[in-house]
Amino acid sequence: MDVDDIQCIAVVGAGLMGHGIAQEFALAGYQVWLHSRTQKSLDTALDNITANLDRLIRLGVVSPPQAAAVPKRIRTSPHLETAVSGADVVIESVYEDADLKRRIFQELDAVCPGRTILASNTSTLMLSQFATATRRPDKLVISHYANPPYLIPIVELVRGATTSDETVETMTALLTRVGKRPVVVQKEVPGFILNRLQGALLREALWLVQEGIASPRDIDTALKNSIGRRWAVAGIFEVFELAGWDLLAAAMAGVYPHLSNASELPPVLTEQVQRGELGVKTGRGFYAWTPESAEALRHRIAHALVEIESWSDDT
Ligand SMILES: NC(=O)c1ccc[n+]([C@@H]2O[C@H](COP(=O)([O-])OP(=O)(O)OC[C@H]3O[C@@H](n4cnc5c(N)ncnc54)[C@H](O)[C@@H]3O)[C@@H](O)[C@H]2O)c1
Repeated sequence: MDVDDIQCIAVVGAGLMGHGIAQEFALAGYQVWLHSRTQKSLDTALDNITANLDRLIRLGVVSPPQAAAVPKRIRTSPHLETAVSGADVVIESVYEDADLKRRIFQELDAVCPGRTILASNTSTLMLSQFATATRRPDKLVISHYANPPYLIPIVELVRGATTSDETVETMTALLTRVGKRPVVVQKEVPGFILNRLQGALLREALWLVQEGIASPRDIDTALKNSIGRRWAVAGIFEVFELAGWDLLAAAMAGVYPHLSNASELPPVLTEQVQRGELGVKTGRGFYAWTPESAEALRHRIAHALVEIESWSDDT
């Protein structure tokens, strides 16, 4: 399918990610169907979209008329077939459960037109787990967004062994058209690019805390005031091109043997989860939270993400 033939997008699953993905396509002018199991969850999703758009208006990213057009382009249905039967592209974003997703892909394959591309927003599962659930393995791809999907430009397009070049090319063109910056992960591998990089950094950060070498607050301060600032505008390879790989090789030869290579989660994390200290949602994690301090952090992140966009040189 050519990207110009795409008119209707369906999003299956209306939670944290699904509603934001639907919002993005509608904001870009596409007709969108949003599906979840209950009308109540769909109504909540529409309320969340309205709140997101209000935030984007306050941040100067969209105008009030642009925002007002979004809900008019989104139709909702608790019936899967109604939502997807006219879709050119379906993005599945239900719970991260392999059996559930496999069942959804089977149903999608049965009720979607033959031309429809089926994409999954899974963070951790492999496409090969769903490919045999459909008769269109060439039209299956992972499109992994980052949260919040309407503010973070990246989408990892992960191809499975059976994904066709045409599917990858069409999805790349579609995502680019709506303002995303897709990257193609050529082979399926757990964590794709982003969660492998994030997981490696988090493993080291947790090790530093576990060993009493630095506090979570000091690690966050170090990140925010150094590499975090650079990485928003220059990637790790770009940054080290400036530094020179000879210097870097000499420095890292001494550090690598001492980095954490743990293959299990450290007690500092597992015990915290057992205590129910889960972060903002329970009022305590590594920090103490109030609704106000959590909202202030969300606002700070959203504001900076909008600002940083003007510095990006990626197209
Ligand atoms: N949360 C993140 O930061 C993040 C980032 C990238 C990708 N993802 C991935 O996105 C997907 C969704 O995650 P989320 O955080 O939005 O979860 P969520 O729990 O907020 O939303 C899941 C939604 O799926 C719906 N659902 C469940 N079973 C369904 C069914 N049978 N039919 C239709 N709808 C059904 C639920 O009602 C809910 O609205 C997961 O695969 C997750 O790994 C999440």
